[in-house]
Amino acid sequence: MHITFCCTDTKAEPWLAGLRAALPQATVTAWQAGAPPAEHAVVWAPPQQFLDEQHGLKALFNIGAGVDALLKLKLPPGVKVVRLDDAGMSVQMAEYVCHAVIRHFREFDGYEADVAEGKWSYRKPRLRADYPVGVMGLGVLGERVARALRQFDFPVHGWSRTPKAVEGVVCHAGIDRFDSFLSSCRVLVNLLPLTPETHDILNRKTLARLLPGGYLVNVARGAHLVDDDLLALLDSGHMAGATLDVFRTEPLPAGHAFWKHPKITVTPHTSARTLRDESIAQIAGKILALERGDPIAGLVDPVRGY
Ligand code: NAP
Ligand code: GLV
Repeated sequence: MHITFCCTDTKAEPWLAGLRAALPQATVTAWQAGAPPAEHAVVWAPPQQFLDEQHGLKALFNIGAGVDALLKLKLPPGVKVVRLDDAGMSVQMAEYVCHAVIRHFREFDGYEADVAEGKWSYRKPRLRADYPVGVMGLGVLGERVARALRQFDFPVHGWSRTPKAVEGVVCHAGIDRFDSFLSSCRVLVNLLPLTPETHDILNRKTLARLLPGGYLVNVARGAHLVDDDLLALLDSGHMAGATLDVFRTEPLPAGHAFWKHPKITVTPHTSARTLRDESIAQIAGKILALERGDPIAGLVDPVRGY
């Protein structure tokens, strides 16, 4: 069995060593132009040339949860696309989102600013009931985030394409319930995949439906958000702030208005990192399952886009 590795912006050696240790019976190589055909590929944003040359592939294992970069390419017919299925990401996402929501709700940013000026200040406690949180996407990450927010007693709403039931969470499904979902929330967390339906979904019209003083946490993809629409709603005062981990162009270009905006917190696409050992263990298990002809979780539907 031949496994090829083709991941942009990722050091190959530790992955090759880990895959060889997990699958000693396999030949594991880093892809180069003209390389012999492999049955399985471990990929992140590979060049089109890789897919054009590798005709024998049974499966592409994406080393992230989001497959938007991969699905932009022309894939070999019949190849299975497999996304990372948690692999240690959901707990990271839960801690990142809870931190962002609690930091805003408890006004820790305001206290930090006061302390920096030597001020001993008190702010009136906010009512948790006034801060319903909406989670867009109730998949592997969104469901974990929604459950974690419930642990802090926030009222939590969730929105997905198909109906879901998550204990303690008011679940809304489908485009017909989108407006009522948005207007139930003051804080909005985006954990949707980037697909033709969800591109630009966070815009002036949708964000304006949030309760006044709305707050956005975008941890999915930059192209979900229309940047200027967020800035306009922050300027108008309808929105109170945002924590943004993902951007249309990454790294966020120098001089972009988000960098220094007083109501925006920027982090460098780090809310849920790919953990190498967990990911290798998951991918190796799935390669063995596919070789045996067993079903696997995390198969992407390229038509649906996630
Ligand atoms: P997932 O398991 O595929 O879940 C996707 C969820 O979105 C599902 O609940 C799905 O609904 C819902 N959805 C999809 N299209 C929809 C639509 N048009 N309308 C309403 N709901 C829709 O994905 P995941 O593993 O949770 O990951 C979500 C995204 O997080 C990834 O695609 C990636 O972009 C992002 N991510 C970011 C980071 C980071 O570090 N910032 C790390 C990992 C992932 P159904 O349940 O009905 O199918
Ligand atoms: C990271 O953004 C991922 O999709 O895993």
